[in-house]
Amino acid sequence: NFTPNAFVEEMVGELKEKLGNDKVVLGLSGGVDSTVAAVLLHQAIGKNLYCIFVNNGLLRKNEFQNVLDQYKGMGLNVKGVDAGDRFLGELAGISDPETKRKTIGRVFIEVFDDESHLIEDVKWLAQGTIYPDVIESVSVKGPSATIKSHHNVGGLPDYMKLKIVEPLRMLFKDEVRRVGATLGIDPELLGRHPFPGPGLSIRILGDITPEKVQILQDVDAVFIDGLKSWGLYDKVWQAGAILLPVNSVGVMGDERTYEKVVALRAVESTDGMTADWVHLPYDFLMKVSNDIINKVKGVNRVVYDISSKPPATIEWE
Ligand code: XMP
Repeated sequence: NFTPNAFVEEMVGELKEKLGNDKVVLGLSGGVDSTVAAVLLHQAIGKNLYCIFVNNGLLRKNEFQNVLDQYKGMGLNVKGVDAGDRFLGELAGISDPETKRKTIGRVFIEVFDDESHLIEDVKWLAQGTIYPDVIESVSVKGPSATIKSHHNVGGLPDYMKLKIVEPLRMLFKDEVRRVGATLGIDPELLGRHPFPGPGLSIRILGDITPEKVQILQDVDAVFIDGLKSWGLYDKVWQAGAILLPVNSVGVMGDERTYEKVVALRAVESTDGMTADWVHLPYDFLMKVSNDIINKVKGVNRVVYDISSKPPATIEWE
C-alpha cells in the first residue's frame, strides 16, 4: 500500500538532508521518470538543481521545443542543448542497431559532460532510474540486457566524478506516475508512452539521414495525433512508426511511384518485457494510412505490425 503523499514528504526531507547546499545536475528526457525525479528534487533543493535537456535530433516532431517550454512553465531550471546536428553527423553511414545505440550513448555522455562542466562546483548527478531499470541492469543475463544494450543506467565516465542520487530507484512505473500526480505534474505528461533513449534512430532501419528522420517524424506525428484524437492513445502502452529500408511500387494519378514503406506498431504491455499488438479499429487504420500517404511525401505504403513479444520485440532494432 504505497502512498505517494508520504513518499514525497519523506523523500523531499531525505534529499534536503543528503544534498544540503550542493549543486545537482540532471538529464531530462521528456519522459515520465526524469521529469518526476526533477520535480521532486526541485521541491527539495530549488535552484540548486540544474537540468539539461539534450536534443539528439531523434526526438518526435517538435518535441524538443514543446517539452522545453513545458519544463520552463513548471519552474524548472533547465537548459536545452540542441545537439541534433552533432548526433546525426556521428550516426551518418551507421546501419547496425547496436552501433547506433553505442554511438548515441557516447555522444550523449560527451554533450552532457561538456554541459555539466559549465556548472561551477556541481557535486551530484541525479538520475530518474526506477526499480525495473535497476533489476534489468543488474541481471546482465536478462534478455533485454544481452540482446539490446539500454544505456539508461550506468555507463557514465569516471572522470565525471559526481556522486549519484536516484530518488525513484525503489519505485515501479505506476508508483512514479502517482508521485508525479501528487507533485502536480500535467497528467498528459505523466501519461506519455515510453520512448527509447536512442529515439527514432532504432525506428529507421538501415542508415540514418536527416531526410529519413524528417519523414519518420511526420509519419509518427500523424499516427500519434490520430491515436489522441480517436481517444485511443491512453488505451495503448506504446506506439510508433518504423521506416523500412525498402521502396515499393505504387500509383498516383497516371504515374507509377517507387517510394518508402512505413510500418505502424502499437502494443499493450505492463512492463515492456512481453507485449501484444493492439487490435486498433480498421476505420482508424484506414484513416491514418490515408493521411500518412496523402500528407507525407516519399511514402506510398503503410503496413501494420501484428507481431507479439516474444518472439518479436517492440522495437524493430
Ligand atoms: P524491446 O524492443 O526490447 O523494447 O521489446 C522494450 C522497451 O524498451 C524500449 N527500448 C529502449 N529504451 N534504450 C531505451 O532507453 C534502448 O536502447 C531501447 N531499446 C528498446 C522500447 O521502446 C520498449 O519500451
